[in-house]
Amino acid sequence: MSSLIDQARQILRANDLDGYTVPTRGLYPYQWNWDAGFTALGWITFDEVRAWRELERLFEGQWDDGLVPHIIFHKYDPGYFPGPDVWGTRHTPPTSGISQPPVAATVVRLMLEAAGDQTLAEAKAKALYPRLLAYHRWWQRARDPENTGLVVTYHPWETGADNSIAWDAALARVPATKTEFVRRDTQHVDQSMRPHRSEYQRYIYLVELFRSLDWQPQAMYEQTPFKIADTAINAILQRANLDLAELARRFGRSDEAAELQERADHTRRAFAALWNAQRRVYQPYDRIAGQRIDVPSCLGMLPLWGRVPDETTAKAMMTELERWAQISPFLVPSSPPDFPGFESKRYWRGPAWLIINFMIADGLAHYSYPDLAERIRQSSEALIETGGFHEYFDPLDGSGCGGKAFSWTASMGLYWIFRKSG
Ligand code: GLC
Repeated sequence: MSSLIDQARQILRANDLDGYTVPTRGLYPYQWNWDAGFTALGWITFDEVRAWRELERLFEGQWDDGLVPHIIFHKYDPGYFPGPDVWGTRHTPPTSGISQPPVAATVVRLMLEAAGDQTLAEAKAKALYPRLLAYHRWWQRARDPENTGLVVTYHPWETGADNSIAWDAALARVPATKTEFVRRDTQHVDQSMRPHRSEYQRYIYLVELFRSLDWQPQAMYEQTPFKIADTAINAILQRANLDLAELARRFGRSDEAAELQERADHTRRAFAALWNAQRRVYQPYDRIAGQRIDVPSCLGMLPLWGRVPDETTAKAMMTELERWAQISPFLVPSSPPDFPGFESKRYWRGPAWLIINFMIADGLAHYSYPDLAERIRQSSEALIETGGFHEYFDPLDGSGCGGKAFSWTASMGLYWIFRKSG
């Protein structure tokens, strides 16, 4: 175990570029939004000053309207596509123009709990608080202007689960860009593990469309051909709103605590429309097609992390996860292996991701299913042992896939898997 801890620390140190951590060298040479959150949890276990720095650097990319973009291009790297010129957001430092699942407020709360230096932690959390609040208000204002209780996403990259089977139908309705481009990802990682070119052409079409709208929130809301109330973003935002409300109380901001709590109550009720009782999993809602997307995925288990389901619903989800465990040697597959479209190595179409495992296990423990939570932790430990600190894993044979020496895998080892071991 101690050698795995050493290796994990070593990965973070090697991926550290001046206060921010790249997910992995080569494939992802910038700072990503939700990666930064999970990676700060890794740092907090052995370098607290550095852990807080990770979040400060992320918030350097925050826009005036509150948006925290999904990529902060701190220092130009020609090895990545699409770079700052393609996004054309004209922000300093350069950034993308979409966001990612907002884990930051939850991470701040967990870091406050984990920190040995409470004086430092309190000061850092207090300084980050208004920025977090602005970010959460941005989600609500820009992405739920009709106050439905659920925010919408305009891009598969924003969901964090780029090529999930869940996006297939909605993405097929998006035109392909006519612009010629050279992908960089397939120069770093085997093509069989990455999204297809036809998907990339649509990812880029969306970026070009939003750039042509000058990234104006109202115009994007009205004109995007891809508009989905996703279970990952909404569940993670829900948990983050609850955690931010807790921080607000701690810092004596009772009006803001009430505002956040009210929003969380509204969202919890709105989640009912995403529940599929037959499949025993939450599912995203396609606002353009006007229907729920009938694909079961690990993202639909994240409402456990968001404290969304009631006891009966949580039990049904747990039962469904038990079923997945019978057909998948390693947990948690991004879609169950018996679902059409499952591919064990292709990114978000089947593989297991340790950040997802962490959130689902946390949720299961909260709903009093510690045994299944522990099985997921053990499975995650076994994945690191068989596959190394890869970006993600094949859930059928446990092999490591995608980028190597990956920051969020190392961080989940440090913060969760090894800490709770034995
Ligand atoms: C990919 C993943 C996304 C992650 C990013 C950097 O785009 O799908 O979730 O944030 O890589 O690791």
